[in-house]
Amino acid sequence: MAAFWQWFVAGGTILFVIWCVWLVSWSAKQGPQNVGDEELVGHKWDGDLEEWNNPAPKWWLYLYFITIAWAVGYMILFPGIGAFEGTLGWSSAKQYDDEMAAAAERYEPIYERFAEMDFQERMDDPDAQRLGASLYASYCTTCHGSDARGAVGYPNLTDDAWIWGSSEEQIYTTLMQGRNAIMPQLGAALGSDAGIDNMTNYVLSLSGAVEADAAAQAMQPMFVALCSACHGTDGKGNELLGSPNLTDDVWLYGGTAEDVRYTIENGRNGIMPAHGDLLGEDRARILAAYVASLSDDSPE
Ligand code: HEC
Ligand code: HEC
Repeated sequence: MAAFWQWFVAGGTILFVIWCVWLVSWSAKQGPQNVGDEELVGHKWDGDLEEWNNPAPKWWLYLYFITIAWAVGYMILFPGIGAFEGTLGWSSAKQYDDEMAAAAERYEPIYERFAEMDFQERMDDPDAQRLGASLYASYCTTCHGSDARGAVGYPNLTDDAWIWGSSEEQIYTTLMQGRNAIMPQLGAALGSDAGIDNMTNYVLSLSGAVEADAAAQAMQPMFVALCSACHGTDGKGNELLGSPNLTDDVWLYGGTAEDVRYTIENGRNGIMPAHGDLLGEDRARILAAYVASLSDDSPE
């Protein structure tokens, strides 16, 4: 089948070129001898502008022959006829690989210098920071914003609240392998609307946002049973699971009663995509130091 389609496409291309040659030659023969004297084609524009039935000038026709010759030459040198690869062996994939190799050769010495630094040195080095900022601009702004302050569902990278941890290895792992946070749907487990409301108030009371009434306070054992495996008995979260600290009044999905209630009832599933293939180790290390330096608590 594949061979059939290759020949189908190649045949179509070749026939089309032949047809073009025929068409242009045919119209080249339509010299003035075939046209009646003083013959108008009958079009009229702007009241008095009319068109003579004259053949196209020769130089104009030659341009067509030149383009056809150009196309034939092109299709011999480059891929264009079915699966024929062209005599130059050019392909866009090969060109891409060549350019990447050339860039690697040019940039490798620069990256080598940064690769020898440790985390703190990369945070302090102005060149590493500049490179980090430009990597950030290319790969991260779509989700975390150009100011890195995030949005609902996309963490703010400039505050001191780290869901997955702020050490070099933790940030590096976040970048290379990505993260997948799973907050289960717990509406059913809480039984009733009132149960969800009371749990919402209990959660909000952890950061002091609201005063827990008696019904909310009574949810504490329920919190231990349903939530503490991930968020800890004290609600301070767990970096291994990406379960956020619920006591710091920093909210990934918003801190109104409505937002928190929605999270508890329906669950959440935040995904930070893996960037290992895109970035490679050296650039991920530079970016990790850049991101770490954005937060308030970064050592100056
Ligand atoms: C299986 C682990 C797990 C359990 C059990 C769990 N959570 Fe979560 N929770 C998470 C994770 C992970 C996230 C982060 C989700 C994300 O980033 O998409 C989260 C997020 C949240 C948030 C949103 C925080 C923010 O910053 O917006 C709230 C509120 C929350 N959980 C409350 C609860 C409550 C209340 C319970 C118990 C009724 C509970 N969670 C049980 C893992 C869990
Ligand atoms: C497609 C959107 C997307 C892109 C692109 C993206 N991120 Fe993320 N990132 C997320 C989401 C969503 C989370 C939160 C996952 C969760 O719910 O815990 C996250 C989490 C993080 C975290 C963890 C924050 C914490 O508090 O622990 C860091 C660090 C991070 N991203 C850095 C980056 C960097 C640097 C880039 C650019 C290379 C980047 N991200 C690109 C969506 C994205």
